[in-house]
Amino acid sequence: MPDRTPLLAANWKMHKTTDETEDFLADFLPRAEDSGPEVVVCPSFPSLQRAVELCVQSRVRVAAQSMHEESEGAFTGEVSAPMLLDLGVQGVILGHSERRQYFNETDEALARKVPAALDAGLEPILCVGESEAQRDADETEGVLTRQIEADLANVPDQRLGAVVIAYEPIWAIGTGRTATAEQAQEAIELIRGLIESRSAEAASAIRVLYGGSVKPDNAAELISQPDIDGALVGGASLEPGDFAAIVDAAR
Ligand code: PGA
Repeated sequence: MPDRTPLLAANWKMHKTTDETEDFLADFLPRAEDSGPEVVVCPSFPSLQRAVELCVQSRVRVAAQSMHEESEGAFTGEVSAPMLLDLGVQGVILGHSERRQYFNETDEALARKVPAALDAGLEPILCVGESEAQRDADETEGVLTRQIEADLANVPDQRLGAVVIAYEPIWAIGTGRTATAEQAQEAIELIRGLIESRSAEAASAIRVLYGGSVKPDNAAELISQPDIDGALVGGASLEPGDFAAIVDAAR
């Protein structure tokens, strides 16, 4: 049995000021002290530094929600890996469906961003997933294959195990319509198989999370599936009690 530590990541999206970040962590950090799964919070850029300062003495790590692939340059409004690292940030979400859909984040850009994050020492959390129309048209396998192959094209086989992948079916994000444990397991097994075709070692090391309407009452069933190594949580991660309950479900 592969020994993969479960990972729970809180994707706050465009929520929480620095004061609200502080309030959340004051409540949440004492609840997250026990050993067990790894826990990551992903605040918006302005709250990253405060979150790092507050989490430094805890087991909780801080990741950003996006970054540019270049380390510096004329890219107004963008943030680079060295800038995140400078704040003490340890990871970054890449390719979230909201970035793909509203901000035109492409597979070509992701093929540069994932290795840029790894090279900088940031743990990338790469999101992939099909739309409802694609699932209905039986295209889930094709979409996931295309995204995984394209987005990880420039990551050497021996480094694949250091990437975290989040399978997030778009139809389940923010809709309250969670994938069934079987649907999530099936898609994540497929993703692990795609990694295995490049490296068996990476396939047994890489952590693949599920995301999409994860709540305290469905987390345990999802995370107990053999290939599901944790969750990327949006809405339910905004309340410290709910996110702590999801972390507990992975223990
Ligand atoms: P949700 O979001 O938990 O609110 O569905 C998940 C995500 O977008 O990462």
